Amino acid sequence: MAPDIAALKGERPIVALTSYHAHTAAIADKHCDFLLVGDSLGMVMHGYETTVPVPLDLMIMHGKAVVRGARRALVVIDMPFGTYEESPSVAFRNAARVMKETDCGAIKLEGGRRMAETIHFLVDRGIPVMAHIGLTPQSINVLGGWKTQGRTQEEWAALEEDARVVSEAGAFAVVLEAIAEPLAKRITAAIPIPTIGIGASAACDGQILVMEDMLGLSPRVPKFVKEFGRVGAVIEGAIQSYAEEVRARRFPEAAHTYTMKDDPTPAKPVKKPKSS
Ligand code: KIV
Repeated sequence: MAPDIAALKGERPIVALTSYHAHTAAIADKHCDFLLVGDSLGMVMHGYETTVPVPLDLMIMHGKAVVRGARRALVVIDMPFGTYEESPSVAFRNAARVMKETDCGAIKLEGGRRMAETIHFLVDRGIPVMAHIGLTPQSINVLGGWKTQGRTQEEWAALEEDARVVSEAGAFAVVLEAIAEPLAKRITAAIPIPTIGIGASAACDGQILVMEDMLGLSPRVPKFVKEFGRVGAVIEGAIQSYAEEVRARRFPEAAHTYTMKDDPTPAKPVKKPKSS
């Protein structure tokens, strides 16, 4: 549950990944403290250029799959663009729908000071909120691109205030995305809730990556991604072998086909007669 994640601050690093479907959720669940059904699924799974077009129903559909796959990790679901910014009551209605329909443990929303009132409103009414500051991809059209935040000292005060205010509003954790390392470290030391870094600092209380990026499945990844696997190459090798075997009529083999019930070939194991 969300308070268990909050309680890990100062105890040990928090491990998290995004997850969008049941089978990878079941694998990641064994190793992660929480799984985020991020709205990055719009780009990673559905080919959108940004996260802006992602609809709430899509988040709910993938959220249900991840909840079915996860056994112990907390499942957090992103509120997509346009479903929470208008007012605290709109945010509550949509967040409650996400919680009721998916059975997830918390929601995440983007924004610092401007979302403080909403965070307080949701937490006060039973919805655990993870905040997200720094590079907030839903605001990409205002930010003007995927830019690292806090690279000049002038930007620090606003980001530090964002972190402090979401913490005071009741968020149980805050994602710091693409924030200059010294600032991410400073924010982590200054607030009582866990910071979850993505392109931030090893000093953050936890780390998160997009699963497809760290597996080596994404065609383009930001500088902050380390590829821990080359799954894309493994998939391509398997598909190439499959195509070759189909074309050469080497697949399917006898082991992959069904015989008739009374077909004597290939030989069935001989049943021993029952001893009388
Ligand atoms: O949508 C997402 O995947 C995220 C992570 C980058 C934190 O918000």
